[in-house]
Parts: sequence; C-alpha cells; structure tokens
Amino acid sequence: GAPVEVDIGALAPGEMKRVEWRGKPVWILRRTPEMLAALPSMTPKLADPDSNRAGEYPTPEYARNAARAIKEEYLVVVGICTHLGCSPTDKLTPGPQPSLPDDWQGGFLCPCHGSLFDLSGRVYANMPAPDNLEVPPHYYLSETTLLIG
Ligand code: FES
Repeated sequence: GAPVEVDIGALAPGEMKRVEWRGKPVWILRRTPEMLAALPSMTPKLADPDSNRAGEYPTPEYARNAARAIKEEYLVVVGICTHLGCSPTDKLTPGPQPSLPDDWQGGFLCPCHGSLFDLSGRVYANMPAPDNLEVPPHYYLSETTLLIG
C-alpha cells in the first residue's frame, strides 16, 4: 500500500480524524494540554506503559514514550483492537461513565470484550487485548502534513 498524506492543519485540540491506510483505520487525535497532563499518571494501570513489548506490531522507537508520539499533541494509531480486531470506541471525555472505571481519564473502549486503552492507545493491565494499539510508521512532511506509511 502507498503512504497516505494527511492534512492535520484544521484539527482542533480534542478532535480526532480518521483516515484509511493499507485497508486499516488510522486515528489521528490532537490531544489537549489536559489530556497530555493525565498521561504520566496512567503508568500503574497499564500493561506496557513504555511500549517496550515486541508484540505483533512493535511500537516504532520514536513513539516509545508516554505520548507515543513524535509531536506529543498528535496521537497516530491504528484503530483496531489487538485482541480480536474489533474497532474500539472513542471515550475521550474523562469522568465516570457506563462500562468505564470511575477514575476514567479518557481513552478508548473495545465493545467486543471490554479492553480499555488510554489516550495514547496503551492497553490497561489484565485486559483481553495483549498489546497497545499499533502505531503505524509515520513522519511529518511539514507542520501540518503527516505522512503515514
Ligand atoms: Fe477488543 Fe476483544 S476484540 S477486547
């Protein structure tokens, strides 16, 4: 598959954009300062906070950090659950909600078997999903243009 160029210039903080790359959904989430500030506190809840696991889709070196990002505002992940391939639902807003922990900080919920992911696509500990969401290879062509692939 060919690389996909994405214009992220119009993406507002807190907004998510969906594109397709090699037949897979890719999400680009522009995180707010509040969203980014919550990431370090997630560590004890996560299975692989530093994305060190090899897994099926090892995290690229440049995304092995709490934000899992080159530019920390922008999360770029494949929107496919690492358990059996369902599409997680975005639950970006923090706070108690049905099917989510009371101290929810925002993230994603897989509707199939309940796996939870944080706002960096990192899987919570003891979930059916074995790994963090895949970070596809990507880089920035300019301030507002992202190349996936
Ligand atoms: Fe997502 Fe099973 S496919 S939890």
